[in-house]
Amino acid sequence: MEVPQIYVEKTLAIIKPDAIHKCDEIEDIILRSGFCILQKRRVHLTPEQASDFYAEHYGKLFFPSLVAYMSSGPIIVLVLSRDNAISYWRELVGPTNTLKARETHPDSLRAIYGTDDQRNALHGSDSFSNAAREIRFFFSDSIVEPVAVGQAAKDY
Ligand code: TYD
Ligand code: MG
Repeated sequence: MEVPQIYVEKTLAIIKPDAIHKCDEIEDIILRSGFCILQKRRVHLTPEQASDFYAEHYGKLFFPSLVAYMSSGPIIVLVLSRDNAISYWRELVGPTNTLKARETHPDSLRAIYGTDDQRNALHGSDSFSNAAREIRFFFSDSIVEPVAVGQAAKDY
């Protein structure tokens, strides 16, 4: 019998160094928000790897401190799936600046778990192409194409 192919969107989430002590609580919220955690990895990036990951921001004033922060301690990297995973995760995470998030989106994860205007607790891919690149960056052995739900279990 043929397995039905149901395609769901995937995104890349990172629990950053300032929030890693809250990772169990954050993963619980992720699951209660309707995401599946397809893959998970604990990583301590080198400054070179952090620079590569944030290459689109190279040359900006905040780039050196962003790289120092992202390589300052371990992070948890997650591949999440659900319908509209990319935009839904970005919405849940909230505005980039934690201080602004606390004013305008007090229920967002950055408002709750972030530290300041740079150490904002969480990352979320901002487009389909960036999600594909970022998932490949951390899980080069993973399937970058949208994955059928029937296949997701073995990915986990
Ligand atoms: P960006 O991609 O603009 O934000 P987001 O994470 O919401 O997609 O920036 C990447 C990270 O760089 C951001 O999470 C925190 C840091 N950053 C600063 O430290 N200062 C800044 O002014 C900006 C815009 C970002
Ligand atoms: Mg971004």
